[in-house]
Amino acid sequence: MANVARAVNIADLREMARRRLPRAIFDYVDGGAEDEITLRENRRAFEEVTFRPRQSFPVQNPDLRVRVLDHDLAMPVILAPVGYLRMMHPDGELAAARAAAAAGLLCVLSTVSGHRLEAFRAATPGPAWFQLYLLGGRDAAAAAIERARNAGFSALVVTIDVYVAGMRERDLHNGTPQLLGNSLVDKLPYVPQVLARPGWLIDFLRDGGIHRLPNVVVPGEGPMPLRDVSTELFRSSFTWNDMSWIRELWPGPIVFKGVLSADDARRCLDHGAAAIVVSNHGGRQLDSSPATLRILPEVVAAVNGRAEILLDGGVRRGVDVIKAICLGAKAVLIGRAYAYGLGAAGEHGVARAIDIFRTDLVRNLRLLGCPSIGDLDASYVHPPRG
Ligand SMILES: Cc1cc2nc3c(=O)[nH]c(=O)nc-3n(C[C@H](O)[C@H](O)[C@H](O)COP(=O)(O)O)c2cc1C
Repeated sequence: MANVARAVNIADLREMARRRLPRAIFDYVDGGAEDEITLRENRRAFEEVTFRPRQSFPVQNPDLRVRVLDHDLAMPVILAPVGYLRMMHPDGELAAARAAAAAGLLCVLSTVSGHRLEAFRAATPGPAWFQLYLLGGRDAAAAAIERARNAGFSALVVTIDVYVAGMRERDLHNGTPQLLGNSLVDKLPYVPQVLARPGWLIDFLRDGGIHRLPNVVVPGEGPMPLRDVSTELFRSSFTWNDMSWIRELWPGPIVFKGVLSADDARRCLDHGAAAIVVSNHGGRQLDSSPATLRILPEVVAAVNGRAEILLDGGVRRGVDVIKAICLGAKAVLIGRAYAYGLGAAGEHGVARAIDIFRTDLVRNLRLLGCPSIGDLDASYVHPPRG
């Protein structure tokens, strides 16, 4: 397993993950939809924002804390829902939950997780949110919501940008559908990439191979096999009409994830949003969707304080977190940044990713001359071009 203490930044963790994981799994994490325009655009928007520092302001210990939906977080970074983490490392979602809790952060569990949601909840004494897909139909989703409520998840995250699954071309090139399928003959051409990563393979076999999805239990059929996910997503996707029955089952706060316009932000408010995540699913859904950082000011203006605003997509460094907060986000979600850590070295890798963000934030707030996350505002940045 990689020595993640030597990772200086998230790009190093990404490289360590690339060396441990079979290509099909690394690319599943790393890739985006179609031409990956949005994937690159998320990064480009961050790169275009520059700072207006207040030089040599004495800031000793900047305060990183933030409050999101009544949770006190040690810094404005939330672990995003990332599906199939158990394929990257056997501890998967549990490792993410533990590392988040140890750092005083919040982790969101994906519907398509390899561990039971109750086990995830038990792995963290801190707050946790459950992300909802309607995979397997309404009855399966209703059962998951009920379980999430009983297990003590404090918010439901409804992802609204997966009406159908995006076209992730790397997965097709790498033979992911064949590797997940039942035909040995179809698998054969793609097996060498797996054999080339013996460390990962041993962990994977010890963990019992591919697991069914324990939080998508289809009545009369049991847990859904992993290979069915993209076709099933298409068959039972979320529409706004679903909100009335979801509301009946979930009286707590609802977070809508996947907003890319003021209009959709207002729709979320109409459906009682407690928080909104400005997100393009990390460039994995509709390619040529805009960078989230460019859309953030429009959404902040439309929401006008009626819900909390979060952002994700392309966050790889502490400066990215600072830029998003300057432009109006309360906190950000990170997806790949911690998934790379997990792929590199399990829980240690996730902890290292979190640590990189923390030290980045401390150093850069001091360089900016800003005493706390709560003091950040637009006066610290030159905004991105529209
Ligand atoms: C491998 C992978 C799997 C993901 N699975 C889910 C998921 O199951 N549910 C969901 O709402 N978002 C999912 N996302 C999107 C993330 O929650 C988040 O929006 C995105 O990763 C943010 O971009 P970043 O990876 O550049 O930080 C996934 C992202 C990745 C990279």
